[in-house]
Amino acid sequence: MNILITGSKGMLAKDIIDELKKNNFQLYCMDREELDITKKEEFEKLNDIKLDLIINCAAYTNVDAAEENKELCYNINFIGVKNIADYCKLKNIILIHISTDYVFDGNKKSYDEEDVKKPLNYYGVTKALAEDYLIYNLDKFYIARTSWLFGKNGINFIEKMKKLMNEKKEIKVINDQFGRPTYTKDLSKTLVLLITQNKPFGVYNITNSGFCSWFEFASEIKSIINSECKIVECGSEEFLTKAIRPKNSILNNNKIEKLRNWKEAVKEYLSE
Ligand SMILES: NC(=O)c1ccc[n+]([C@@H]2O[C@H](COP(=O)([O-])OP(=O)(O)OC[C@H]3O[C@@H](n4cnc5c(N)ncnc54)[C@H](OP(=O)(O)O)[C@@H]3O)[C@@H](O)[C@H]2O)c1
Repeated sequence: MNILITGSKGMLAKDIIDELKKNNFQLYCMDREELDITKKEEFEKLNDIKLDLIINCAAYTNVDAAEENKELCYNINFIGVKNIADYCKLKNIILIHISTDYVFDGNKKSYDEEDVKKPLNYYGVTKALAEDYLIYNLDKFYIARTSWLFGKNGINFIEKMKKLMNEKKEIKVINDQFGRPTYTKDLSKTLVLLITQNKPFGVYNITNSGFCSWFEFASEIKSIINSECKIVECGSEEFLTKAIRPKNSILNNNKIEKLRNWKEAVKEYLSE
C-alpha cells in the first residue's frame, strides 16, 4: 500500500509515520516545503506515484492566532483539505483526515460522531467546514476527530506544565473545561487499525478514555513528576484567550475499541 503523509513534520504526523513503519507500507512523507496543500497545482507532482491512501496531518493549529489570521487558517484548514479531497476523488485514493473536538460548542455532556457541529472559534469553523466538504463530496474517507493531543514531537500541555512547574512555586490552571487528553502514539495505532482492519468509512471519534479538566490534567502531571509546585484551580475567566473554547468536549468513541485511560498514557509519555 502506497501512503502519503502531508504535514509530515507535525507532532502527530511523526508518530503516525513511526507506527506506519512497523507495517509493510510504502511511505511518502511530505512537509510544507515538499507539498503545500493550499497550492492545487503542487498536487501534480504526485501523479508519478500510484497512491492508495493520503493521511492529512497538515493544519493550521494555533487556535488563538487563528482569530487574527483568518485567511491563512481558512486556506490551510479548508482550501488545503478541499485540494486534497478533490485529488483523492480524481485518483480514487482513500483519505484519512484529522479533525478536532473544537467543532463542538461544549454545551452537551459528551459528543457522539454524528452530533451537530457548532464551533465557537475560527479554527473550529474551518475544521468543521473541511469535515463537511469530505462528508458531502467523498465516499472513501475517514475523519478522525481527536482532542487535547500530547506527543513527543511537539509543544504540548504536558511540556508547558513541566516547564512552569520547574520555574514557579504556584500555578493557576483552569478547572471548568473538560476533555479527553490523547497520546499521539495511541491515536496513531488506532489510525493504522482503521486501515489494516478495513473499517467502514466515515467519522470516528478517537481519544484516550476517561476525561478531566486542565486542572486535573496538570495535577496528574505534578504527581507523576513529583513536583513541589502548588497547582491552584481557577475559572476560564482568569485566562481570557482570543479564541473561546468549549467547556465540555468529551468525544464518545462509539465506533472503535476503547483506548487506554489518559492517565496511563500520560504516565508512559513521562517515563519515555
Ligand atoms: N494538537 C492538538 O491538541 C489537536 C487536538 C485536536 C485535533 N488536532 C488536529 O490534529 C492534526 C495534527 O495536529 P498537530 O498537533 O500534530 O499539528 P502541528 O504539530 O501543528 O502540525 C501541523 C503540520 O502542518 C504543517 N502545515 C501547515 N500548513 C501547511 C501547508 N499549507 N501545507 C503542508 N503542511 C502544512 C505544519 O508545517 P509548518 O510547521 O511548516 O507550518 C506542521 O508540520 C491537525 O489536523 C489538528 O487540527 C490537534
